[in-house]
Amino acid sequence: MATRLSVNVNKIATLRNARGGSNPNVVQIAQDCERYGAQGITVHPRPDERHIRYQDVLDLKEVVKTEFNIEGYPDERYMELVLKVKPTQATLVPDPPGVLTSNAGWDTIKNELLLTELIQELQANGIRTSIFVDTNLKNVEGAAKVGSNRIELYTEPYASQFHSNKGQAIAPFVEAAKHAKKLGLDLNAGHDLDLYNLKYFAQNIADLDEVSIGHALICDSLYYGLENTIQMYLQQLAF
Ligand code: PXP
Repeated sequence: MATRLSVNVNKIATLRNARGGSNPNVVQIAQDCERYGAQGITVHPRPDERHIRYQDVLDLKEVVKTEFNIEGYPDERYMELVLKVKPTQATLVPDPPGVLTSNAGWDTIKNELLLTELIQELQANGIRTSIFVDTNLKNVEGAAKVGSNRIELYTEPYASQFHSNKGQAIAPFVEAAKHAKKLGLDLNAGHDLDLYNLKYFAQNIADLDEVSIGHALICDSLYYGLENTIQMYLQQLAF
């Protein structure tokens, strides 16, 4: 089965917030992304609500018909929101409150107790869990140990090396993905994936369940339009 494309709509909220009104409308755009073929909608609310607001997440819950994925640092407010909304998937990310964008995966060994408790609570509420990790095999093993359903591989190091040496860039991801599958983990990936590097990644990572893509996809849509862009990304995943 082809890898599913989940569109991260955070950038739409950033644009809306620049003028304070409701243009562009995050809820409408999420519905349109689904209409254009996206198989999931991702949001990443942050404590300062500088892009997606907590209210957006509640509004999106009413309309998203595909897989709804809520990423974030699992503080009290995040957990309360996620347990209320009950999305398809909660992706736990270790980003500190002020960070510009997620820039590292979990140390799943150091955070074993915390992650185990959170994952149990989420799963008891019927929510699939994914935890954001790098390709360090110890962190992949830790993700299996804490009982997560999935991991999301942090692909920035792949993206930044892709143009200079794609073989070298993909190698640790191939290894981490194989290890994850052996341990019974399902597999997502995200961060800095784009129209250039996506196909090679998906072709080389067997059984990649989902990619979540925001920044590049929204930038591309300025040139190609949202509908064409989503179709172009889906084509990268259809081989
Ligand atoms: N996955 C996680 C955990 C993220 O924090 C982000 C950015 O919000 C993404 C994926 C998507 O990254 P990008 O916007 O670079 O496509």
